[in-house]
Amino acid sequence: MEAFQYKGNELFCEDVPVARLAEEFGTPLWVYSQAKFLSEFNAIRDAFAALDPVICYSVKSNSNISLLKLLGDAGSSFDVVSGGELFRVQQAGAETSKVIFAGVGKTDAEIRYGLEADILMFNVESEPELDAISAVAKSMGKVARVALRLNPDIDAKTHSKTTTGKKGNKFGMDIERHNALAAKVLKDDHLELRGIHMHLGSPILTTEPYEEAAKKALEVVTELRKQGHQTNWVNLGGGFGLSYRGSEAPPASEYAKVILPYIQEAKCRLALEPGRSICGNAGVLLGRVIFTKREGGKRFIIQDAAMNDLVRPAMYGSFHKIWPVKPTVAAPSDFEAAEIPGCEPADVVGPICESGDTFATGRALPPVERGDLLATFSAGAYGTVMSSNYNSRPRGAEVLVDGNKARLIRKRETLEDLIAAERV
Ligand SMILES: Cc1ncc(COP(=O)(O)O)c(C=O)c1O
Repeated sequence: MEAFQYKGNELFCEDVPVARLAEEFGTPLWVYSQAKFLSEFNAIRDAFAALDPVICYSVKSNSNISLLKLLGDAGSSFDVVSGGELFRVQQAGAETSKVIFAGVGKTDAEIRYGLEADILMFNVESEPELDAISAVAKSMGKVARVALRLNPDIDAKTHSKTTTGKKGNKFGMDIERHNALAAKVLKDDHLELRGIHMHLGSPILTTEPYEEAAKKALEVVTELRKQGHQTNWVNLGGGFGLSYRGSEAPPASEYAKVILPYIQEAKCRLALEPGRSICGNAGVLLGRVIFTKREGGKRFIIQDAAMNDLVRPAMYGSFHKIWPVKPTVAAPSDFEAAEIPGCEPADVVGPICESGDTFATGRALPPVERGDLLATFSAGAYGTVMSSNYNSRPRGAEVLVDGNKARLIRKRETLEDLIAAERV
């Protein structure tokens, strides 16, 4: 489904004109579509239904507790990478018994927190971490359920900063270490090996890496069982593609097609940790044009949404569609076209004192004026969660739309919020 559509030359989120939300809540403003969140979650659940998977929405991609509650109520579980994320899951009122705790550097306090919450399992990334989990579990008189994170050395052909399953990345362990640690678990009364974990990177726009990973998982599980393990979980992580540009990401059913046969053959439960593919296209970032200017032969559109709100373009050089909320030119099918009738190239920038504070360079855009609204699309994932107060800019508000209703799910920060934790 399309959550954001132009109707009568004005952008709507579901049945709500987003300009109305900007009037009511100000800018920068994050606008989310409830229906889009749910339809993407349901698409994954339905695609993998034959295996009744545990879908652990990756909290890191967008952790607003109203969104966690929405997904929890729809049957999602959660993948967390910190005590803070586990706290959010609890605050959302979600069950923790199906939570998976991932991450390369869990502290003892976080391990203890996970054990107290009786989570489904920890994804373990190194021997020192395994030892720490065992020690904390022993001190609590508990048995920690773990999966070992294998680095399968698969090239997921994604951005170098978001590739995680290649040899040389900081994540996981190679097969030799995996097997050695599996043997160690067998001898430890405070550890139980639940399964194998892999996460290859993000976003992955082809299905082949998942097929390779699922095949690898089958091999490893077969071997582990020969060694005497009761291993019955395969967790293939997240990373499903998101269509930032058009429809470049395969649907969930395509990933399912290549993964299912191997997991069925392994007779394992399947866990997945999707984030971006659920929330990415469920959100836009609205900014208001502060000034336009022409300098050095270029047109600049300076808006009040900036890299402190959405850092992805500055951090990864990522592409986001950008178009006015009430355009004088209809939105094109190709937002990257060098020439669009009625448009002129422009750099879309924010007010932050960094040249990197640029959302788009030389982008064909219609005329805009001071006060106009711009929408930056596909901003629902890795947007708010990576936002900061750089340049002492309060973070924007977040609004969730359901049909013709909209509700504030995070208030705009105030100047007082900026200094609330500081002491003089
Ligand atoms: C271990 C792990 N699982 C899941 C995810 C979620 O990935 P995505 O949001 O691309 O689905 C990530 C992303 O960094 C991750 O590192």
